[in-house]
Amino acid sequence: MRILLDVSDMTIDHLDHVEINLQPIGRRISIPIGITILEASQIAGIELSTICGGTGTCGGCKIRLLEGEISPINPTELELFSGDEIESGFRLACQAKILSSVRIEIPPESLTTSQRLQIEGREIELSFDPVVIRVDISLTAPDLHDLRADYSRIKEYLQSIGYSNINIRFPTLREISTQLRAHHWEATLAIKGNEIIAILPKGNEIYGIAVDVGTTKLAAYLVDLSNGNTVSKRGAMNPQISYGEDVISRIGYVNNHEDGTKILQSRLVDTLNDLISQLVQEADISNHQIVEAVIVGNTAMHHLFAGLPVHQLGTAPYVPVISDALEIPVFNIGLDINRGATIYLPPNVAGYVGADHVAMLLAAKAAEHRQDAHTIVSLDIGTNTEISLYHWGRHLSCSCASGPAFEGAHIREGMRAAPGAIERVRLNEKQVQIKTIGNIPPVGICGSGILDTVSELLTHHVIDARGVFIGEHPKLHRINGKYEFILASAEESGHGRNVVVTRHDVNEIQLAKGAIRAGVEVLLDEAGITDSDIDEFIIAGAFGTYLDLESAIRIGMFPDLPRNRFQQIGNAAGLGAKALLISKGMRTKADQIVEEVEYIELTTQPGFTDAYMEALAFN
Ligand code: FES
Repeated sequence: MRILLDVSDMTIDHLDHVEINLQPIGRRISIPIGITILEASQIAGIELSTICGGTGTCGGCKIRLLEGEISPINPTELELFSGDEIESGFRLACQAKILSSVRIEIPPESLTTSQRLQIEGREIELSFDPVVIRVDISLTAPDLHDLRADYSRIKEYLQSIGYSNINIRFPTLREISTQLRAHHWEATLAIKGNEIIAILPKGNEIYGIAVDVGTTKLAAYLVDLSNGNTVSKRGAMNPQISYGEDVISRIGYVNNHEDGTKILQSRLVDTLNDLISQLVQEADISNHQIVEAVIVGNTAMHHLFAGLPVHQLGTAPYVPVISDALEIPVFNIGLDINRGATIYLPPNVAGYVGADHVAMLLAAKAAEHRQDAHTIVSLDIGTNTEISLYHWGRHLSCSCASGPAFEGAHIREGMRAAPGAIERVRLNEKQVQIKTIGNIPPVGICGSGILDTVSELLTHHVIDARGVFIGEHPKLHRINGKYEFILASAEESGHGRNVVVTRHDVNEIQLAKGAIRAGVEVLLDEAGITDSDIDEFIIAGAFGTYLDLESAIRIGMFPDLPRNRFQQIGNAAGLGAKALLISKGMRTKADQIVEEVEYIELTTQPGFTDAYMEALAFN
């Protein structure tokens, strides 16, 4: 149900305005002070669940206040929320009035539509040499003539079928006696190296979980460890968004809160446990059957998951606590899987080139000599864009500060890829054609939409190489002395206001694409080659999947290569995590990559500033 807000007779211009920042959608707008959060969401075009029509009885519009001031909690809300929820900042959007600029978290269940999550990627062929194997055992029961200990019985059986020098993890040792007696001395063991890590009822399959922990989104895959097949997959928003949209602001949160690391870690682990419970339910298995986990993320996500300090990642020279691969016993983290399981975190390259990039390189085979490609550029675009260049055995990488514009931040009508976001834009002399996610009336623009818009404005000479509005177009208007290009009028939009692109928005895209292109050029320069030497240009990640390649080339973000040299491969970090789950060889390769890669710190590269200045223009 949607409650219609009549703002027609509000003298909005005469009211004080404040900003509401709606997370995790990433929508920020100016709204009159004193209206409810529900009304503000409607102005922003974000639909909350309002089954009771705003009377405060259904609880559907539950939100969480992250920052700012709202009206005191009222009796209706007091009745609905527990003490813990109230302490955590939960409120009803239909009841709480906005008294200052606020930052609000909208839980997924309060939204009528869900965000787009990127969990697919190009499938790759992997050799299957699993890290954990399954062995079925059938033992004889003890009697007065056979007083061997339960564990000795297992060891001797294993020895008889070719497994020697076997040890057992202590949490598993605690379970064997009960399990063996409950299942008539038969069982399935999960063995890693020379260690028994889990004991299960005989015949149970064993599984692993691979997770890509992105700064914004999480993608989790449940994998059958007997054949390497993915049996279910799920995505979710990273709950840490509520504490900072990007890596730097999350590090800032930790720096400013004594228990910041703990809070961010536990929010992430709680969400991962939710994902795990959905995955096992879908596959109809038990959590205990998950005996290994692989987590990949950028270096900050890696540290926050492991509970490592991040202060030094936010301060020059931005070094990680550890760059080697880590194996953490699951009880140190609290993931809801078998107690004997280990969590493997692949190695990091540097403070801003993390294990997710390594996983992506593995999945894309972008860091190895191939018959068809000797020079490979691969990148994953985000607030920080990680770029690698592999050239005849030499491997260079860097990270560039491309900023959050492609996530919709710093863009007037920007938002993340959620229903109602304009994702495709085409222009002709008179008109604009748009496509929104979910094919519903537009309420904002996501990264691929703003990229398309700038490309089309250039093609139709509405802006020049500097990004300045110069041309004429029926949709270009001058409002209060500033140009605004209207993508959707108030009548067409989902929130009753024009959806526009401004000079400032164009400028934000210039800065982002300039940083990315300059990063690529610096690596090519370091290797002594040019654009035309690139055999393959790999674009990974969610934004990389949905961006229009022609638009990206038109604005100069990518070099103008033959189109068959480009590959948009989806969530390759997630696929790399899967590869690391089912292949010992991949783990060895990950170590090799990190050992061989030459990390280039762009800020100390003499050619970077020139390359950046040159890449800013739309040539
Ligand atoms: S709309 Fe039902 S409680 Fe707010």
